[in-house]
Amino acid sequence: MLKLIEETKHLALKELENIKNKTDLENFRLNFLVKRGKIQALFDKLKDVPKDEKPIFGRELNILRNSIEQKFKELLEKFEALSTQTESIDLSLPGRIHNKGTFHPVLQVMNEMIEIFKELGFSVAEGPDIEDGYHNFDALNFPPDHPARDMQDTFFLSDNDRELLLRTHTSPVQIRIMQLQKPPIRCIMPGRVYRNEAINARSLAEFHQIEGLYIDKKVTFAELKGTLMTFAKKMYGENSKFRFRPSFFPFTEPSAELDITCFLCSGEGCKICKNTGWLEIAGCGMVHPNVLKAGGIDPEEFTGYAFGFGIERVAMLRTGIDDIRLFYDNDVRVLQQL
Ligand code: PHE
Repeated sequence: MLKLIEETKHLALKELENIKNKTDLENFRLNFLVKRGKIQALFDKLKDVPKDEKPIFGRELNILRNSIEQKFKELLEKFEALSTQTESIDLSLPGRIHNKGTFHPVLQVMNEMIEIFKELGFSVAEGPDIEDGYHNFDALNFPPDHPARDMQDTFFLSDNDRELLLRTHTSPVQIRIMQLQKPPIRCIMPGRVYRNEAINARSLAEFHQIEGLYIDKKVTFAELKGTLMTFAKKMYGENSKFRFRPSFFPFTEPSAELDITCFLCSGEGCKICKNTGWLEIAGCGMVHPNVLKAGGIDPEEFTGYAFGFGIERVAMLRTGIDDIRLFYDNDVRVLQQL
């Protein structure tokens, strides 16, 4: 009996050594470890040995079975680990597609506007979002009691000597540029602006503008018109219709507003254009002499023009979106369509 056990052990170890894959392993199991296998056959033989020797052989057989089962388990685990590894580097699987993302539609329009003005010879400058009352109002010729300075219109951050506020337009950057640079000045100033507005389909409390400033000797209103028309045609196409309408700003004189035919009703009149058929896209005018003085420039020697576009308005015209709030709900289902 002992000899039989030794033989079976020898045979099993030899076979285990030669196992190269899962199929070999399965054959081994069928040969040794199943009910009709070689190990069980030895257990069956126990009934023929004398009673007093049974415990000895029984113990030997148990040791043999346990050690073989252990080795079998180790090999099984090894092959299983190997097969999951090969699955994870299956080169025939299709790749995973990542969403790359794009610029926000408002930023896309802003960049496009910047590019057009750059072609027209404008450089780009920036100013702070947190301004003081001097740059946002006084230097721009706003009288001290102008309604724009009311709490209802402006977000004030402090009310001490140097009143701080969130800029209500990009025009204060005009003053900062004039204080830094001598004419000729020709630059645009894009950025975020803030107004304490009731939020609705046409207005938000936070939006974007692009300011423009050109100062040199003998700059005329005709140049302002020419520049804005060239820009507008490049931005909206040769066939779009525009008009200049007289207006008022404390920092320009004379002042005008640039309108474009309403994108929604094509001039027929609707709720977006308040039934006028026109939408305002920019304020503009000749820089007021008091503003030039505040910027340290002699109004007797230099003249200039300035303009300010609302970017969301331009983006609405571009995309046909008729509710400005949709830009900032940040619903990708909307943004992906633009
Ligand atoms: N700052 C004005 C506004 O916010 C626009 C403007 C800029 C008008 C420059 C004239 C000149 O409405």
